[in-house]
Amino acid sequence: MIKINAAITGVEGYVPEYVLSNKELEKMVETNDEWITERTGIKERRILKGEGKGTSDMAVVAVQNLLNKKAIKAEEIDLLICATVTPDLVFPATANIICDKIGATKAWGFDLQAACSSFIYALYTASQFIETGRYNKIIVVGVDKMSSIIDYTDRSTCIIFGDGGGAVLLEPTTDGLGIQDSIMYSDGSGRHHLHQKAGGSCYPPSHETIDKKWHYVYQEGQPVFKAAVKGMADVSAEIMEKNNLKSEDVAWLVPHQANLRIIDATSRRMGLSNDKVMINIERYGNTTSGTIPLCLWEWEKQLKKGDNIILSAFGGGFTWGAIYLKWAYDSK
Ligand code: UT7
Repeated sequence: MIKINAAITGVEGYVPEYVLSNKELEKMVETNDEWITERTGIKERRILKGEGKGTSDMAVVAVQNLLNKKAIKAEEIDLLICATVTPDLVFPATANIICDKIGATKAWGFDLQAACSSFIYALYTASQFIETGRYNKIIVVGVDKMSSIIDYTDRSTCIIFGDGGGAVLLEPTTDGLGIQDSIMYSDGSGRHHLHQKAGGSCYPPSHETIDKKWHYVYQEGQPVFKAAVKGMADVSAEIMEKNNLKSEDVAWLVPHQANLRIIDATSRRMGLSNDKVMINIERYGNTTSGTIPLCLWEWEKQLKKGDNIILSAFGGGFTWGAIYLKWAYDSK
């Protein structure tokens, strides 16, 4: 029987225009460019400005550009999954809003939330719908407006996060390319160290939750850092070992961009030199669900058909995982 794989056949991205630099943050909280650069690798991040603008506004640009690039009509999309922790609304799903805005009238869709691992969780989920043979064109969007849940008086979080994201088209292939393997993990005991406490069913919005700033990201940096270094490095090494990949077999690591030190620890563990690692954290910071598609978008022209690529992420939950894929096309 011929095996159907899911292959990424196109990628696009979007970042808002406004640049929030370390220098500007120095005026907002007690911090400095040197500390931020040394501890995180971040120099600037993008912020979506505009009353009523949300995650779907960024997603729509990425998806529309992807459809144009691939010369595909919105009605051809079977399914759209939106990976995000900052949906436009609590409900309905941002995926539904995106489909409505782009005219994807034949698609069904849903949101998937796994904090910073949202995109790889969504890509793995989408790949299963392709592998069954039932779906031909799936869009996976990874996008976040992190500025909507960040406290810009909290120096431990506001320096890290930014807005933006990207979208990939997933199609079936029978030539052995595309997604080869995926390993996903989660551990809910990590929730105490990284969460947004209010806005859900435990603590619906109230004056009290606002006063206590529970609508913002809460993060205990050190425990998350330790778990992230271990989780991302371990799962990346595990997927290499499971698929008999040596460091020289891997063309690219596409790591979630949370902290340059976490990325370095992961690439060292995989035995990869820096020139094989996609890093744009210095320009965008941590866009949560957006980091991996943004990297693929920026590096697309350098990718060659057959390249062995490892995607790897760690995030709140805790959630973490890795995907091994063979790139399916040469960019023109
Ligand atoms: O993507 C989702 C998963 N999230 C992550 O992977 C994030 C993981 N954690 C991290 O990336 C790092 O822990 C941070 C970047 C958040 C913090 O870096 P750190 O090296 O762990 O710093 P720290 O929290 O241990 O703080 C060290 C010192 C403290 O001062 P004292 O107590 O030593 O006097 C902090 O108060 O640095 C201070 N500090 C700052 N100083 C200047 C904390 N934030 C800042 C700041 N500017 N923005």
